[in-house]
Amino acid sequence: EEIEKGGFEHFMLKEIFEQPSVMQDVMRGRIHLEDNTLHLGGVKDHLEKLRKAKRIIICACGTSWHAGLIGEYLIEEFARIPVEVDYASEFRYRTPIISPDDVVMVISQSGETADTLAALRMAKEKGALVMGICNVVGSTIARETTCGMYTHAGPEIGVASTKAFTAQVIVLYMLALALSIGRTIKDEEIALYLKELSEAPQKAASIIAQHADIRAIAKVYKDARNFLYLGRGFNFPVALEGALKLKEISYIHAEGYPAAEMKHGPIALIDKDMPVIFIATRDSTYTKILSNIEEVRTRKGKIIAIATEGDQEISNLADHVIYIPYAAAPVTPLLTVIPLQLLSYYIATERGCNVDRPRNLAKSVTVE
Ligand code: G6P
Repeated sequence: EEIEKGGFEHFMLKEIFEQPSVMQDVMRGRIHLEDNTLHLGGVKDHLEKLRKAKRIIICACGTSWHAGLIGEYLIEEFARIPVEVDYASEFRYRTPIISPDDVVMVISQSGETADTLAALRMAKEKGALVMGICNVVGSTIARETTCGMYTHAGPEIGVASTKAFTAQVIVLYMLALALSIGRTIKDEEIALYLKELSEAPQKAASIIAQHADIRAIAKVYKDARNFLYLGRGFNFPVALEGALKLKEISYIHAEGYPAAEMKHGPIALIDKDMPVIFIATRDSTYTKILSNIEEVRTRKGKIIAIATEGDQEISNLADHVIYIPYAAAPVTPLLTVIPLQLLSYYIATERGCNVDRPRNLAKSVTVE
């Protein structure tokens, strides 16, 4: 096991650090920058049907469900196809309306999650085109879907998913672009978004290089009893994922929320003992997020901001700032999630938790 960990103390840390190279593996052979094309072998025979879908319903559990939410933002933004995202466990029991014009897309790292598999079988029975995004080659979900794409993240051992998540988001990004080509997006936009995606691995590496600074922040907050994670747009699902990572491995209660919803509830919890993590990258909602930060500051909450390099304004408002390189908004989830993974990891290890095998959790939930 020590050899498999490759010198890292835990699989989770190794898997976080692997993300820049995993990102490259996911894109390899699929993105051709010389002519701005995408080659998605696993779905190529079904692209026309996917493009004509009346609606895409994404079903998943846990971290894969968060990737699905980002998929919704990406597919609706680029391809203008309506998307719904459902927990597989809800979908399968609520007599959903599914027609043969629908596409049901299931996302699963393991390809074995019981609820996701049941959702897939139900959708297939109702005649929908079923597509899968899986990491484990030859897994049950991968075998039972009509078409799909592998994430190629390599084996993920840590129970808390990290590299599989970023790989899922890249697959969804590539798929969203592939669905939009020749329809809803201009050639120059395709070129820009492919270039932006191809630069993500190197940007991710520069964030990982800041691990010592992130560890220092973790030491300050390791004894907090609650955490709030706030983000908007593409980074709202990242707020949910950041909170989930912390809960899973450190056993600190954490909630993720869309930043603007804060005033409909969580703001009541804010006091000097509440650390609030804001994902506040420079995009169309940046000024709105700044006013949300002001609201937390007024109530003496502790502010940790994930911000875009060069943003001085935010350092006047936040107690701590973790900077990420600039990227186009749809690419930012791939980058903003990394400091949140590292923060959870360091908080959990500072608390002496077994991060690779957290209590009560399983890597793959194969029974209901
Ligand atoms: C479990 C794991 C999570 C994972 C979820 C869905 O809860 O602990 O890390 O996100 O299952 O798993 P899947 O293999 O379907 O992505």
